[in-house]
Amino acid sequence: MQNLKRCRDLAGFFLRAHSAQQLRNSTPLASGCSGLLSLRWTSHQGQDYYGSRGPRFRYIVTGLVAGTGVVLAYGLHQSKGEQAATSVTRAPSLPVYTQEEVTKHSSIDNGVWVTYKGSVYDITEFVAIHPGGDKILLAAGGALEPFWALYAVHGQDHVLDILSEYKVGILQPEDCKKQEMANPADPYSTDPPRHPALVVNSSKPFNGETPPSLLTDSYITPSALFFKRNHLPVPQVDPAKYKLQLEGLPEGTVSLTLDDLKSRFPKHTVTATLQCAGNRRSDMNKIKQVKGLNWGVGAIGNATWSGARLRDVLSFYGFGPEVAAKARHVQFEGLDQDTTGTPYAASIPLSKAVSEEGDVLLAYEMNGEDLPADHGYPVRVVVPGIVGARNVKWLGKIVVSEEESKSHWQQNDYKGFSPGTDWDTVDFKSAPAIQELPVQSAITWPEEGSTVDHSMKEVTLKGYAWSGGGREVVRVDVSLDGGKTWHVAELQNSETGQKPGPPPPPGRAWAWKLWEITIPLPEGAQELELVCKAVDSSYNSQPDTVSPIWNLRGVLSTAWHRVKVKVE
Ligand code: MTE
Repeated sequence: MQNLKRCRDLAGFFLRAHSAQQLRNSTPLASGCSGLLSLRWTSHQGQDYYGSRGPRFRYIVTGLVAGTGVVLAYGLHQSKGEQAATSVTRAPSLPVYTQEEVTKHSSIDNGVWVTYKGSVYDITEFVAIHPGGDKILLAAGGALEPFWALYAVHGQDHVLDILSEYKVGILQPEDCKKQEMANPADPYSTDPPRHPALVVNSSKPFNGETPPSLLTDSYITPSALFFKRNHLPVPQVDPAKYKLQLEGLPEGTVSLTLDDLKSRFPKHTVTATLQCAGNRRSDMNKIKQVKGLNWGVGAIGNATWSGARLRDVLSFYGFGPEVAAKARHVQFEGLDQDTTGTPYAASIPLSKAVSEEGDVLLAYEMNGEDLPADHGYPVRVVVPGIVGARNVKWLGKIVVSEEESKSHWQQNDYKGFSPGTDWDTVDFKSAPAIQELPVQSAITWPEEGSTVDHSMKEVTLKGYAWSGGGREVVRVDVSLDGGKTWHVAELQNSETGQKPGPPPPPGRAWAWKLWEITIPLPEGAQELELVCKAVDSSYNSQPDTVSPIWNLRGVLSTAWHRVKVKVE
């Protein structure tokens, strides 16, 4: 509340001060210690950000609780960047400051100054509208570089454009050299190596997906090729010192070692598909730009996970009817933290966590081996049938609670909205956090834009299909003509080349089905629009087009998957 008030005050002040700011800050952004090399600046973008104060302001406040600076790169500034007036000129001479002088400006009262690549910026007024919240104050009086190393998304033109508005001087060359020598450690330097076949959506933090052509080559996705979705650097966890904290049970706070987890509880293995809420977001981007990583069809994978059942662990430490009468959620915190020490966190409904049929695991193995570093070593939660975001990796804490997790990712992200909702009108409190995912399918072969050999007379299509909440995929329909005529694909629910596996118990279909079909080529066709759609055991199907399900965050992108190919 305090923050909110301060933010409101500052934003109000900023609205008043902004025209003066425009005049003052028509200065170019430094691109190195020489300070005056970059010849780009912005001048009259103020009205775009602050013109309609109410809704934009709400988004700003939302940003105050954001766990990362990631939001900075998106919506709020996007149109501003588009409007940025660029020009080529020499900068007026600016004062030179020492590091000592900069350091004196490290509070709202004394002004908030930062340095970046040899230039000095007075960002006092920007603090209130920083979408990543007042975390920006951690950089006050010092260099931005270490923070931007963590939130690498800041290194984009439009972010630099914004910064350039606040430039007030040059850092004296000796101090600039000292800063360069200090060369902030790259927080991602200890991230594990990744397989080069992954399609990289962002390298810091690392986000990479399985290429479509590899995705359905194996019923179980090899761990190295399994998509990786990280919000922060991968934490280094010493298994010998690892402690998992448990709160909210009659026994008070309990601490478990990795060995406790492995020795005290039976080991369960579940084959489950994990899908990111943003899988296939790129289809939404084709309609209208959304905020988020541009995932194709590969932010999904299927693995075997082994570990202790969460319900066994909770029961062992006293979970019973008294707790169940009050608690509603189970919260999970990761060991990956941002610069303020805020961990990645999420929660799931208690009913799912304690249900025997829910199969929620505190997993320490993936595909028969220790969890790889990227997938949560030494322990992660695996919540079958539930969106990837709740499957918290590098698990540090479990809290049985009356409340959902307060984290940014539970409260202000991973929620669905109407296509008519934009960043001016969005109210994150109005929508529930995504848990069970809707039915999904995609074509992985042939790929978009490829050519089908006419002389073969037929075409083979491959893909995957899956539904959340344990609903089994019962059918996949495939079309070669954009949905006018349909064929039913063959479904595979076990390893390639093996006999079909037994059907999963009703309501516990956690794993995807791969599908395949060979269809004669239509006479004289020169181009095909391949389409697939799946149907699950509740007879849910996928919407035919993207527009009616488009949403500003680009989540739940499950429209019929369409792939255009040529016939030659
Ligand atoms: N857990 C932690 N601690 N940190 C994270 O960044 N990302 C979440 C989830 N758990 C995340 C996390 C998201 S959004 C997804 S989709 C899945 O992990 C991805 O799991 P994977 O990287 O093992 O594929």
